[in-house]
Amino acid sequence: MEINSRQDIIDILKDDTINEQLFSYADKVRHENVGDEVHLRGLIEFSNICKRTCKYCGLRCENRVLERYRIEPDDIILFAQKAVEMGYKTIVLQSGEDEYYSTDKMCKIISKIKELDVALTLGVGEKSFGEYKAYKDAGADRFLLRIETTDKELYKQMHPNMSFENRVRCLKDLKTLGYEVGSGCLVGLPDQTIESLADDILFFKEIDADMIGIGPYISHPDTPLKDCNNGSFELSLKVMAIVRILLKDINIPATTAMETLNPNGRIIALQSGANVVMPNVTTTEYRKKYEIYPNKICINEDPSQCRGCISAKIKSIGRTISTGYGFHRK
Ligand code: SAM
Ligand code: SF4
Ligand code: FES
Repeated sequence: MEINSRQDIIDILKDDTINEQLFSYADKVRHENVGDEVHLRGLIEFSNICKRTCKYCGLRCENRVLERYRIEPDDIILFAQKAVEMGYKTIVLQSGEDEYYSTDKMCKIISKIKELDVALTLGVGEKSFGEYKAYKDAGADRFLLRIETTDKELYKQMHPNMSFENRVRCLKDLKTLGYEVGSGCLVGLPDQTIESLADDILFFKEIDADMIGIGPYISHPDTPLKDCNNGSFELSLKVMAIVRILLKDINIPATTAMETLNPNGRIIALQSGANVVMPNVTTTEYRKKYEIYPNKICINEDPSQCRGCISAKIKSIGRTISTGYGFHRK
């Protein structure tokens, strides 16, 4: 399968007769470049408080219906310890943009978790160069910050009082500081075009991303986009498969949003280019409240149930669970 230009990407995204061929080619590229191991990352969703108003997201500060929580630093460290005991070699700390966690607090959490001999990923939004540097100096290894869309007009519509240029600045700062950088996009935002999805894929190549997460947009009833349709599972999978073919050796998660739209979504994704899964290691009491979109999977399970569930699924398709840190092997 030849993908040499923007037009090739657009043609593939628009042609649904070649989907199976695309998925099996992406699976082959995955096998040849990153092997059959699946890296599990233990995800701690430590605060659902956010100062931003991204129009698609249930955590946006203007959503007054959502019950808010934040987990204290000592408890975050405890969750990380439990995840390590369960076998996780990477911890991911994700949250809304919550200023309660000062740079000092974050750095203490980071350095304590790093004492557990794990790789540490942050997904805490837009910060200054100085803040990113402090986190890095404290031991953080990786950072997730999706560009969401490279269509500047759509970006502006979806993100009141935010700027596309600052988002790109953040991604560049993270690279400069030596993080492994993860980005990605939402698929199916209202008025998003196939052409702009092709541009998103080219953007990931341009910034030399180490990880790319692709997820369908899922409509949340307590947001301004409540009347919009969900994104398509198939189209998200196609974007992900093309990313694998073009950025051969990066890490690509089978995203939770994919499984929310398709009960076997993560396994299908693992067979179409993905090599990472991020099971939730936050305790059950918080899961319902981290409602970025409705019907999120695993909200009634606990960390050990998720570990058991996903391990069995991975083994059932003949793949193995990695015991390493799972850094980007260039
Ligand atoms: N606040 C940080 C940020 O925005 O980077 C991290 C947490 S945020 C909840 C993580 C990701 O959730 C975002 O990058 C976005 O792509 C995704 N997300 C938010 N609302 C969503 C929705 N309605 N459907 C699918 N994904 C969504
Ligand atoms: Fe906040 Fe992230 Fe949701 Fe935007 S996507 S509202 S920054 S949690
Ligand atoms: Fe959570 Fe399957 S991964 S229940």
